[in-house]
Amino acid sequence: MVKTNDILALNQEATGFDLTTYLKQRQQVIEAELDRSLPIGKPEKIYESMRYSLLAGGKRLRPILCLASCELIGGTLEMALPAACALEMIHTMSLIHDDLPAMDNDDYRRGKLTNHKVFGDDIAILAGDGLLAYAFEYVATQTRNVPPQQILEVVARLGRTVGAAGLVGGQVLDLESEGRTDITTDILTFIHTHKTGALLETSVLAGAILAGASPEDRERLSRYAQRIGLAFQIVDDILDITATQEELGKTAGKDVRAQKATYPSLWGLEASQTQAQQLVDAAVAELAAYGSLADPLRAIARFITTRKH
Ligand code: FPP
Ligand code: MG
Repeated sequence: MVKTNDILALNQEATGFDLTTYLKQRQQVIEAELDRSLPIGKPEKIYESMRYSLLAGGKRLRPILCLASCELIGGTLEMALPAACALEMIHTMSLIHDDLPAMDNDDYRRGKLTNHKVFGDDIAILAGDGLLAYAFEYVATQTRNVPPQQILEVVARLGRTVGAAGLVGGQVLDLESEGRTDITTDILTFIHTHKTGALLETSVLAGAILAGASPEDRERLSRYAQRIGLAFQIVDDILDITATQEELGKTAGKDVRAQKATYPSLWGLEASQTQAQQLVDAAVAELAAYGSLADPLRAIARFITTRKH
């Protein structure tokens, strides 16, 4: 079986682009900025709870995509860093709420106890609310050297992405689907394009919008992001079956236990893997116009199907 590191090495050989170094360097930039973005204030307990989840590690895929697409269109890291942090704040708050007893009732996230297990349900709900509100404040007040119209567009897009037209809507259908045996591929795809895909697409587009992308660039990058978003979810479903709790940093095998419809439960493991690969190939094809400038986005797309967590 081909290992993730072998694939990363092959990728580097083919393009001269070293994804491992790139991801490590970007993660460091993002970790430092997230840490700086949210100092402890009063009351301390809520800031500690927000920081507990925000600084718990993770792949930082959304901020990395945002920075990469900004640079692809000719923008600078600085232009997109506040939006990148806001995306991670939103992603983190959605996971805090998703893990609550009223939703998925999970005990572990990113290799640590979930927020409500440490701080209690009441503070975990408020930490999620605090992070969501702060994400909007942060992008609106901290973004520099970008025309206000472009910042406003990103703020509006973030609002649409988290609301009933995006994450919230996807989560509602996800909760309603649990234990049902009549879930079709169309319903499952609706759930995932809203619950996961929407924020990944906005991550890519936010960076591009801040850098002043043309309508054609936006369309291409939207298609790229929609494809990697779906591939990402298919791989998530596969890993829930094939990976261990240590590899995932969260409980494994949950979908089967909760009788959740997933891509592997509808199509089987092998067909799911093939579908994810085809989506990644189609995503990469959208980047043909950009030459080596799009190496990071290409390598990230390929990484999605080879990751182990
Ligand atoms: C994880 O899915 C959960 C999400 C991707 C998002 C859930 C969205 C909400 C809770 C809505 C949040 C509210 C706002 C305002 C944005 P999963 O349970 O399939 O994956 P997991 O195994 O990582 O928990
Ligand atoms: Mg969950």
